[in-house]
Amino acid sequence: MTRDEQLEALVAAVLGAGKYRAVSPDFVRAIGARELAARPNLKAAIKATKNALHQAGGAFLDAPIDYGRALARLREAAGDPEAFRAACRAVMALHTSTRERLPILDQFYAVALAGVPAPGRVLDVACGLNPLARPWLPFPAETVYVAYDIYADQIAFLNDFFVLTGTPGRAEVRDVIGRPPDEPADLALILKTLPCLEAIDRRAPERLLDAVPAPRLLVSFPAQTLGGRRKGMAAHYETQFRRLLDARGWPAERFEFATELAFLVRKG
Ligand SMILES: C[S@@+](CC[C@H](N)C(=O)[O-])C[C@H]1O[C@@H](n2cnc3c(N)ncnc32)[C@H](O)[C@@H]1O
Repeated sequence: MTRDEQLEALVAAVLGAGKYRAVSPDFVRAIGARELAARPNLKAAIKATKNALHQAGGAFLDAPIDYGRALARLREAAGDPEAFRAACRAVMALHTSTRERLPILDQFYAVALAGVPAPGRVLDVACGLNPLARPWLPFPAETVYVAYDIYADQIAFLNDFFVLTGTPGRAEVRDVIGRPPDEPADLALILKTLPCLEAIDRRAPERLLDAVPAPRLLVSFPAQTLGGRRKGMAAHYETQFRRLLDARGWPAERFEFATELAFLVRKG
């Protein structure tokens, strides 16, 4: 098999496996090409690609999400703001990353974004199910919301959510390592994502931060491992992140929450 044929075989094998069926083929191809170059054979490269996809996103989905059911639940609650928020919380609980934020959700955006003027457009980079936190964002209904992630089924669901809620904007399947966002915005949310990108490509976090065309970034890090251990993890992320901010001369406000450490960064 030529290298191109091997790559197509790898992509087919990975996308054929239930867990990664909906992942962006471009993203699988980019990781697969790198792994084929680094591993002794196709089988080892397929295994390494699946491992990388697990670290990037698979680890945060403990079971496949029934998006049809999730949307039905949201539809039922639409029209009653309290019931709708409860339904959003229930759906956010299906993704580990948003589930970890639920205990702090009432404070998280209200505190970290208190001084931020109403944005015309917000980018949610590697969004997971975070767009369902839209009712908690202290912004007017006209704010345009643009969200990116690598799972096509999740992105389709988020577009349905935007239609249901009348939120202007869209969700898009996009590998933000290979194609960082290029749509100008007033604020970018980069929540608990940099460590996932770094696991795939060591330089990806700084490339993303430099490229994102927004003057303000809300960047956060998990305060504990997926297994629940704390192990000084946030301190480690903070040291690394501050080095990156210092090199660019970007000021940041720091917000510490029980499950997450956040920084509101001014670029430039
Ligand atoms: C820890 S979760 C954070 C999700 C969300 N930002 C939040 O805080 O709830 C990491 C997310 O990054 C996404 N992701 C990983 N690599 C990506 C890439 N190269 N491009 C876009 N999204 C990516 C995963 O699918 C997953 O949804």
